[in-house]
Amino acid sequence: MVTAMLMVVSCSMFAADAEPAIPRFNDGRDWFFEKRFGLFVHWGLYAIPAWHEQHPYRLHVPREEYEKLIHQFNPVKFNPDAWLDLAEKAGMSYLCITTKHIEGFCLWNTAQTSYNVMNTPYGKDILAQLAEACHRRNFPLCLYYSVVDMHHPNYPNEGRSYEYEKPAPGDQPDLSKYLAFLRAQVTELCTNYSAIHGFWWDGNVVKYQDPSYNALIRSLQPQAVINNRGFDAGDFSTPERDWNDEVNQQLAFTKPTEACQAIGRQSWGYRAEEDYYSDEHLIRSIDKILAKGGNYLLNVGPMADGTMPPEGVRILEKIGAWYNAVKESFDGAPASHLVKNREILLTRKGNTLYVHLNQSPQTCAVYMHPFNVKPKTAVLLNDGRNVETRVDLLPWDHENGKPVLRLYNLPVNDFSDTVIVVKLEFDDPVPWAGK
Ligand code: GLC
Repeated sequence: MVTAMLMVVSCSMFAADAEPAIPRFNDGRDWFFEKRFGLFVHWGLYAIPAWHEQHPYRLHVPREEYEKLIHQFNPVKFNPDAWLDLAEKAGMSYLCITTKHIEGFCLWNTAQTSYNVMNTPYGKDILAQLAEACHRRNFPLCLYYSVVDMHHPNYPNEGRSYEYEKPAPGDQPDLSKYLAFLRAQVTELCTNYSAIHGFWWDGNVVKYQDPSYNALIRSLQPQAVINNRGFDAGDFSTPERDWNDEVNQQLAFTKPTEACQAIGRQSWGYRAEEDYYSDEHLIRSIDKILAKGGNYLLNVGPMADGTMPPEGVRILEKIGAWYNAVKESFDGAPASHLVKNREILLTRKGNTLYVHLNQSPQTCAVYMHPFNVKPKTAVLLNDGRNVETRVDLLPWDHENGKPVLRLYNLPVNDFSDTVIVVKLEFDDPVPWAGK
């Protein structure tokens, strides 16, 4: 009787404290919870000047001047399989591409505007080739689409973010006409390229709200997850880079979340003189989001010839070596709050705990208060070596006199440019707290 009561108490503590669940969609969109690490691709005419994806906005380049780039777009080395090979090497399992960014240039064969890839020297539908490769390789494809369109004569340029100061001579600003164009483009994108697994709106600076746009996507592509930057709340949030304090503070996401980040600090499109992030910064950022139950979309901007920049290739390969080694600590392993130590992040799968040294470790040890039981095994996922564990009284704990589980002699100096993840397997049940 007493034993049964104790069991109930510890189980309920488990449920309440340990792993707050992220609600599932319970339909075809649930692929999003299985495939958690994706490649974001920003590509357009802006790859030619190689400065920033918002080139005409940030440098105030008049439309008639900027649009001349269409005559230079000729990515003869574009090979979607090479992009997917790289993504797979990095451990990524889905891809999201900019079909149209704020410049208004379209990477697909659209009937709604001539400002598209068919009218470049290249003259072939980029999206069709990418979609074919993604479908052949069972690689979910998501589409980014900018509501801002600095090229379309009906888009109401009023000097908000990502817009021209005012309409160009001859423009006919008319939001409802522009939205009819947008609706026709969304219909093409969701009809002509077989299965689309996500729709990634951006740049709704007109702050227009209307659930019928997402309803249209859902009717054509029911398995598509839709982000929160369009005309209603959508399915998931999109914290950007590492700027969101709430994300940094919280231990686990309680709603579907996909963080996005570029490999360089300045631009999402290819930038010739990019300030690339360090491997360590990117890996800590990815670990932070995945360990909290989110998805991570990491962006690389292809160069004008269609290939990925060499530094992007190096970064993705480096991330892949880490991610593939520690991947099991994210797959089906929700964030856990069982340990008091906030220098680490914890994920759990049954009786297995994964300890993520997400912050730069200060010492070679990790304290696991209130655990006071040694695990059966302790393995460094990064390279498979065993990790020493102790249950002993720390001098710092002399007042309460309680021994604590300690991971010891961790090779922190050998892994200083990455995140160490230790796998601890316990006997059934996982001891949730020491007495
Ligand atoms: C930022 C950039 C935008 C980019 C987006 C991707 O908002 O300003 O150009 O497309 O990030 O999330």
